[in-house]
Amino acid sequence: MGYRDVYAAWQADPEGFWMQAAAAIDWVRPPSRALFAARAPLYEWFSDGLVNTCWNAVDRHVAAGRGDQAAIIHDSPLTHSTRTITYAELQARVASLAGALAAQGVGKGDRVLIYMPMVPEALEAMLACARLGAIHSVVFGGFAANELAVRIDDATPRAIIAASCGLEPGRVVHYKPLLDSAIDMAAHKPVFCVILQREQEVAQLTEGRDLDWHAFQYGVTPADCVPVEGNHPAYILYTSGTTGAPKGVVRPTGGHLVALDWTMGAIYDMKPGEVFWAASDVGWVVGHSYICYAPLIHGNTTLVFEGKPVGTPDAGTFWRVIADHKVATLFTAPTAFRAIKRDDPEGRLVGRYDLSSLRALFLAGERADPDTIRWAEEKLAVPVIDHWWQTETGYTIAGNPLGIEMLPVKPGSPTVPMPGYDVQVLGEDGQPLGPGQLGAIAIRLPLPPGTLPTLWNAEDRFVKSYLTTFPGWYETGDAGMKDEDGYLYIMARTDDVINVAGHRLSTGAMEEVLAGHPDVAECAVIGVADDLKGQVPMGFLCLNKGCTRDHAAIVREVVSRVRGEIGPVAAFKLAVVVERLPKTRSGKILRATMAKIADGQEFRMPATIDDPAILDEIRLALRTLGYAQG
Ligand code: COA
Ligand code: AMP
Repeated sequence: MGYRDVYAAWQADPEGFWMQAAAAIDWVRPPSRALFAARAPLYEWFSDGLVNTCWNAVDRHVAAGRGDQAAIIHDSPLTHSTRTITYAELQARVASLAGALAAQGVGKGDRVLIYMPMVPEALEAMLACARLGAIHSVVFGGFAANELAVRIDDATPRAIIAASCGLEPGRVVHYKPLLDSAIDMAAHKPVFCVILQREQEVAQLTEGRDLDWHAFQYGVTPADCVPVEGNHPAYILYTSGTTGAPKGVVRPTGGHLVALDWTMGAIYDMKPGEVFWAASDVGWVVGHSYICYAPLIHGNTTLVFEGKPVGTPDAGTFWRVIADHKVATLFTAPTAFRAIKRDDPEGRLVGRYDLSSLRALFLAGERADPDTIRWAEEKLAVPVIDHWWQTETGYTIAGNPLGIEMLPVKPGSPTVPMPGYDVQVLGEDGQPLGPGQLGAIAIRLPLPPGTLPTLWNAEDRFVKSYLTTFPGWYETGDAGMKDEDGYLYIMARTDDVINVAGHRLSTGAMEEVLAGHPDVAECAVIGVADDLKGQVPMGFLCLNKGCTRDHAAIVREVVSRVRGEIGPVAAFKLAVVVERLPKTRSGKILRATMAKIADGQEFRMPATIDDPAILDEIRLALRTLGYAQG
């Protein structure tokens, strides 16, 4: 069957399609049906099944004779080490960690926050939670203490599992002081913390609260897998929205298992036993789905890489890792390839390694620009597949399903909707638009299994953010179009989210930080085009009347505030002082127009602009930073 037949089979019988996919999962009690629609437009899948994620990701492979197969390979150019953990070892390690957590009172439904770098223990912590039916929430290491505190207060975890440090090229990221100050800042206090001491930095433990990762496991009884209902939350992952308050995306257990396993075969064309490498971070959705869960659920070997595409030690690292570990499929963000291409434009380092194991490269997280796709195709001589998805969905919305049929690649398009997703481009009236017409991209409800059923503690926000603009549809927040062949093109966000090096960030959150500076009366943050990172944030500051301080000093202060309050990952380095901000007559800041001016793009003068002359002031200010050319 080709893609069109599979898609048509899903359309004809969505329930049957997903029940068939569910057969690949070990259920303690199989679900009686797939979709549960009693609370439409809120939907659930496989709610009355009983299942355990850790069993499906680990134990069942040992039971099936894969105990000696590598489950996790850790390759860390930052520590000059590699380590392999087999499925049998992983089972023992996770059962022991889960047993120790259970002995401290962690059980089904308790939240556990995980703040760890790219080490196998991060995956083990996630799996140990899954084993107990505890709900994990992993926080990316590049966030500052304040962001961690916000998540602690929203998820109210019983425990926090952290490492003593993370490693970035040339610097140690001191996780423990960040954790301590986050707990100080948060109103909610965890009962205990578990600290994995890394040899690069041993942290001071807080008596009565912090337990050592190894010591607290001595003598405990390993825990068995606890069956949970299909609609039980497997995890919460916070992602950026329009405001500074992140959205807690909830991942339901049953649909997550079924959908991820299906994607490993149908989309990534992986057979159990092969090596899958998602070069991302466990703190992002790509890391949740394709470093931790999907490869393990599917019986693959997953690669945990602690390094960067360039500089650790050079732009040949990715090729070295592929050759050393016989990687079959690599998945990363286009920005990683732009970084490699910048350092080694001729691709000389590619030729030094045996890449014969590699069958495909998948790109996601941001728009894949055609230049990068063509460069990768030429240098690697494998299919280069762009695919589009979001934290909310957890897996591909539109892609090219290599395991079903490879469709012709059109650079600039992530190809076509996957089974499960009826994707349409809607006009302002909510009606589907024809080919070539630009509009809001929406997915007809219900969303497929594994996608978010709600936001943690915020059902109203879920309904308002995603289900209200177009009743009967899920609003993706992306704008774009379809062509005559049904290929999708994702062009821009419709909200204040920007994409920096594949990282999703909220300009609203950055504006909140800038507005907190005592000299700033008003501000705006926009995303401007960047050759390497796709976009970078840029701030515009209007100062309080009478402020005579040096503008450069104020800019330095706001840059350091964003780093301190949101984190280095925001990559906020550009800001400029302006007299006024361009606004509509009703007072709305014209951010999209400012972004177009910054990028030197044509734009239409907004009909509702209050004073067009301000745009010239903005253009002049941008030119001082080297933007608004052309
Ligand atoms: N912990 C602490 N700090 C972190 C961090 C982490 N886990 N990850 C990134 N940072 C810091 C970096 O050290 C950097 O700090 P600096 O301002 O002191 O240099 C800052 O956050 C920005 O990081 P990053 O966006 O990674 O930029 P970079 O200039 O260090 O590297 C790339 C550029 C393109 C090489 C890098 O962004 C990359 O590898 N991107 C891949 C994208 C990716 O995996 N996306 C995930 C979605 S698929
Ligand atoms: P995240 O939730 O961090 O995965 O970010 C999701 C957002 O990243 C999407 O809504 C898009 O704006 C963008 N995105 C992800 N993948 C792609 C892609 N392949 N092409 C274009 N944009 C993408």
